[in-house]
Amino acid sequence: MYLNQKEEDMSNGEYGETVRKSMDILIALGEIYDAPNLVDITSAQVSGVSYKTIGDAGLEYLEDLANDEKAEATVTSTLNPPGIDLDNWKKLGFPEDFSIKQNKIVDAYGSLGISKTCTCTPYLVGNVPRFHDHIAWSESSAVAYVNSVIGAKTNREGGPGALAAAIVGKTPMYGFHLDENRLAKFSVDVDTILKGADFGALGYIIGQKVGSDVPYFKLKNNPSNNDLKSLSAALASSGAVALYHIENITPEYENADENIEEEITITKEDILNTRANLSTTDKEPDLICLGCPHASLEEIKEVSNLVEGKTIKNELWICTSINVKASADRMGYTKIIENAGGHIVSDTCMVVSPIEDMGYEIIGVNSAKAANYVPSMCGLDVIYNDLQNLVKFI
Ligand code: F3S
Repeated sequence: MYLNQKEEDMSNGEYGETVRKSMDILIALGEIYDAPNLVDITSAQVSGVSYKTIGDAGLEYLEDLANDEKAEATVTSTLNPPGIDLDNWKKLGFPEDFSIKQNKIVDAYGSLGISKTCTCTPYLVGNVPRFHDHIAWSESSAVAYVNSVIGAKTNREGGPGALAAAIVGKTPMYGFHLDENRLAKFSVDVDTILKGADFGALGYIIGQKVGSDVPYFKLKNNPSNNDLKSLSAALASSGAVALYHIENITPEYENADENIEEEITITKEDILNTRANLSTTDKEPDLICLGCPHASLEEIKEVSNLVEGKTIKNELWICTSINVKASADRMGYTKIIENAGGHIVSDTCMVVSPIEDMGYEIIGVNSAKAANYVPSMCGLDVIYNDLQNLVKFI
């Protein structure tokens, strides 16, 4: 891979040890994927944050990188969710040992100049690239959203690749950075009107069918941004979709269907069957967990309207970023939800937190990604349904 003089100097350690290690990662990636050169990026989003997934080895690695005073992120960079609510872990009952290690991980990232804004929806809280910007993001649901809905260009980075890109300010030029790889291979004709959790079910079906290829949807009704958030997460988790197009909706849809190789039709029955199959039990959930991907202010408002003046029967968490929670606090939604017995949980989520050690057995979710991951990553049962059908009152 071609390196200019400054990149050569970075690679030779003239900008410090952490930059040198970061260049090693970017060069290795570039050589694996035959990238001709590095490209400047405007934004990074770094996964590999939860102590549950990276453990002590990850913590040591990050603290070692952070010891280099010269190391500093050079582009707008945010973190993926950690395993706890960083401010309220005690009140919410997160285990103490886990929480102490988790805070050290986030502090190490902070020392590297990565914003301690921890969210899988960075596009809702200020890490918002422009159309056709090259970026390096690693949270898979956010990658699908930012490529498809915003039209920025990123591969599905791993945590180390995204961190290296944040520090160097560049990423190898391959995959979805190249226009020729952004065309659809599958056309998906959706034969029914979609609402709420239907979008997650659609993403779940199509992710399984297309794997890492690009689908081109023809929908009967316009999705909201929250629907697109759910669709992106489901496509990225049941398959490995990093980019999709929706006719007349997403910014690159025109001509994206030039190379279609296979056509798929999705019926109402397909959606209903998938919705039913995503639940692993028909018992009552003991915890309802919303906000996968992290809830927007509109989604929190919807919950607030639903529960106002009532008492919720099950436990309820709404996972979101600290930034959206601050807006919900100011709007009075947090108080309404807390008065009904629910909690707005910042930073973390039902998948990356140690929820299996907190006494819960059945989790109610309205996200197909969470329905897919809670059984496999937490070993718990799930119920998949719309918000209105999950929340019960005393
Ligand atoms: Fe975000 Fe956790 Fe879902 S990281 S996309 S809320 S699994």
